[in-house]
Amino acid sequence: MEARDSNHIVFRRLNQNDFDSLCDYLYKLSHETKKRFGPHSFDRQAIWDYYTHEENLIGYIGIDIQTNEIIAYSLIKIGYLEHDSFRLRSYGMALDNKTDCTFAPSVADDWQGCGVGNKMFQFILSELKNLHVKRIILWGGVQKDNHNAVNYYKRNDFKILGQFTYNGENYDMAFDID
Ligand SMILES: CC(C)(COP(=O)(O)OP(=O)(O)OC[C@H]1O[C@@H](n2cnc3c(N)ncnc32)[C@H](O)[C@@H]1OP(=O)(O)O)[C@@H](O)C(=O)NCCC(=O)NCCS
Repeated sequence: MEARDSNHIVFRRLNQNDFDSLCDYLYKLSHETKKRFGPHSFDRQAIWDYYTHEENLIGYIGIDIQTNEIIAYSLIKIGYLEHDSFRLRSYGMALDNKTDCTFAPSVADDWQGCGVGNKMFQFILSELKNLHVKRIILWGGVQKDNHNAVNYYKRNDFKILGQFTYNGENYDMAFDID
């Protein structure tokens, strides 16, 4: 198998012309990864509608410059998810739609564990600093048994806010931007 090198990956915002490539990327994800990453459904029209109707949504992609393929995809929603707000407030958090944002990352199966997720996070973080965002909250938390993701968030200085039960045990986690 060829070596995976995260130095061959460039990160940028998703745009309208990326939708076909994004659908290919999502289609190829393993069942295991799809089970972990589900901010929206995966068919083309549903993704298109989601980006058209949902406000303050930014997609980020990582592209392998050798093949031009998308190999990583993350969503940032500026603000918090109404759906998660009751739970987040129960930890004593004061939520703010201008300074909080919500994050859901994914990396193609063949590229996981090669440092792409870390680099994507650093890229997104630098953008968020320019948008005056102060805190990054996980999108629907993270499943406690998703050890790679829990380690990934801890490695990137996310802190556990609390724990909840939904299809198993989950953590809510957040990252404070200095
Ligand atoms: C979680 C995810 C985005 C991390 O991205 P990644 O590119 O695999 O992560 P990186 O290679 O940058 O590794 C970052 C850290 O994550 C952890 N990690 C990632 N992959 C790992 C693996 N296969 N085994 C153990 N730890 C792993 C490590 O702590 C690693 O720290 P290190 O840099 O000190 O080694 C990615 O694995 C993924 O898409 N997983 C499936 C979807 C998912 O779970 N999304 C999150 C839903 S809440």
